Amino acid sequence: MLRPISCPFSIRTQFASPYATRWHNRKRFRTMKPDDDLCLCFHVPRRKVEQYIRVQKPRRASELSECFGAGTGCGWCRPFLQRLFESSQPDAEVLPDPDQYQNDRKSYRKQQFNND
Ligand code: FES
Repeated sequence: MLRPISCPFSIRTQFASPYATRWHNRKRFRTMKPDDDLCLCFHVPRRKVEQYIRVQKPRRASELSECFGAGTGCGWCRPFLQRLFESSQPDAEVLPDPDQYQNDRKSYRKQQFNND
């Protein structure tokens, strides 16, 4: 009968380390997909913005507001719109996890509300 050999460099040993186990158990990293909303105020999906950039070829990032009003609400998505606009390949740009994106926007909105 063959027995597994305990090798200090095996994958199993690597995952046994506390850091590797924590990383392994972590929720899987997810980035914004084309159908996820980029502008949460006006529910404009990332795909629409990318298409607008590709087809309309806006000269300024502010022209992205003509894409279903993206960025004209609370302003949370403007830095991300800017990133897509400045990217040579907007569809390859890595944007945050949609759940985290929504939670961060909630904090942003609370902060805005408290400042008013
Ligand atoms: S999320 Fe786009 S303007 Fe508020």
